[in-house]
Amino acid sequence: MRVLLTGASGQVGHEIERLALAGFDLLARTSSQLDITDASAVLAAASDFKPDIIMNAAAYTAVDQAESESECAWSVNKTGPTNLAKAAQNVGAAVFHLSTDYVFAGDSKCAYRETDAPGPTGVYGASKLAGEQALMAEVQRSLILRTSWVFGVHGKNFVKTMLKMGAEREELRVVADQRGCPTSAASIANCLWALAAHYRKAGDLQWGTYHFAGSPVCTWHDFAQEILNRALQAGLLHRLPVLCPITTQDYPTPAQRPAFSVLDCSQIQHTFGISQPDWRDDLDEVLEQLRLQ
Ligand SMILES: NC(=O)c1ccc[n+]([C@@H]2O[C@H](COP(=O)([O-])OP(=O)(O)OC[C@H]3O[C@@H](n4cnc5c(N)ncnc54)[C@H](OP(=O)(O)O)[C@@H]3O)[C@@H](O)[C@H]2O)c1
Repeated sequence: MRVLLTGASGQVGHEIERLALAGFDLLARTSSQLDITDASAVLAAASDFKPDIIMNAAAYTAVDQAESESECAWSVNKTGPTNLAKAAQNVGAAVFHLSTDYVFAGDSKCAYRETDAPGPTGVYGASKLAGEQALMAEVQRSLILRTSWVFGVHGKNFVKTMLKMGAEREELRVVADQRGCPTSAASIANCLWALAAHYRKAGDLQWGTYHFAGSPVCTWHDFAQEILNRALQAGLLHRLPVLCPITTQDYPTPAQRPAFSVLDCSQIQHTFGISQPDWRDDLDEVLEQLRLQ
């Protein structure tokens, strides 16, 4: 099977390329090699390579910046998937696409299921939701994987920020009233390849939207504490900074953050037997890779 990957230099894109399963012919394209907002370039790339699957890891992910750069966010997050959908239709490819917990309002008290009504509160979430809808409207064989709180070895993420600030400062203030599920980029890549393997074996899939995120649920403060403790054990830090819990109100941001961002991942388990990874194990792996760098 031939797989065309877009956004190959992002956190998840990088891991999709690194963890590619044997027997898949992967063509990985970074943003400079293939701009998904360029409809004719996307069409040409698909016509040349003739993929069976287009995996889209490209996105505009700067949540706060999106509020002031909405045109750019909408272009990458909505027009991009629309272009990929048209190209997929043209060559008969399926599309695997990534989306986010930010499509929900984050004001629920129980984990969000795929069937729950979306209600994004900012430009990023709204543009990602529009991308999902554009893809679904165009391509029957589309699989959307919503995930949350992504971390990994490559790119910018909370783990790397905590390591940097933990080494520089005596005290860190981290939000303790937002709950979610950290998810490693590698576990997302493994999940996508497992789905691709199902597709290759069965010649079909139960298409649609699925939630996939790490377990257990935690706050950013809990996550920070685990990162710092484990980094100390791994020798990436020489002492523990003091970690102070703060509220969302203490840390104002241009984009509103969901208070409750927990995704119910039972559907992907039930349909494909894919379990939620324990993000603490994945965190150890990421810290080990960072230590070896
Ligand atoms: N990060 C999170 O916490 C999080 C949470 C939930 C869901 N997600 C979703 O997971 C997916 C992967 O996110 P990530 O964390 O891997 O993001 P990321 O590290 O920001 O990577 C996104 C990639 O998209 C590329 N890109 C941007 N504009 C492009 C364009 N016009 N054409 C082609 N490529 C373009 C970027 O390239 P450049 O760097 O060259 O611009 C970058 O390599 C996204 O769909 C995101 O919405 C992420």
